[in-house]
Amino acid sequence: MKIALASDHAGYDLKEGVAEYLRTHGHPFVDFGCGPRESVDYVDYGAKAARAVVEGDCDRAILVCGTGLGMAIVANKFKGLRATPCPSEYAAEVSRSHNDSNCLTLGGRTQTLDTALRLVKIWLATPFEGGRHARRIQKISDIEDETFK
Ligand code: RB5
Repeated sequence: MKIALASDHAGYDLKEGVAEYLRTHGHPFVDFGCGPRESVDYVDYGAKAARAVVEGDCDRAILVCGTGLGMAIVANKFKGLRATPCPSEYAAEVSRSHNDSNCLTLGGRTQTLDTALRLVKIWLATPFEGGRHARRIQKISDIEDETFK
């Protein structure tokens, strides 16, 4: 599973911490930026990583901005992306088991590295349950087919 990783300036430090975690634990990833000491628009970097998932170059994305909210809004504009800011470990687990989240968003100004890494660990390890949840995901895909060109 290859991860597309990206942040804006507000998420940069946390992104670097997540990158270190992924490296240490042998998870392949591509870092789409941003770099240090630049003030950027989260939209641009979130979109680069989301596009990599849509195009099949990466399997999932982890996006970091100040709150995780802007990145989630951007990622969810891409067909097939299910981006979830996760306010708790329970949410991280259910985002995978029920929502089949393929994009975790984190907040560099709202979460510590320790908290974020606990969420990342759960989000990476939890499988989608399928069953009735697959039916619900299919309904989301049907809405996308209706509303995306
Ligand atoms: C950047 O200052 C901030 O607005 C951004 O990182 C994020 O919180 C947007 O959702």
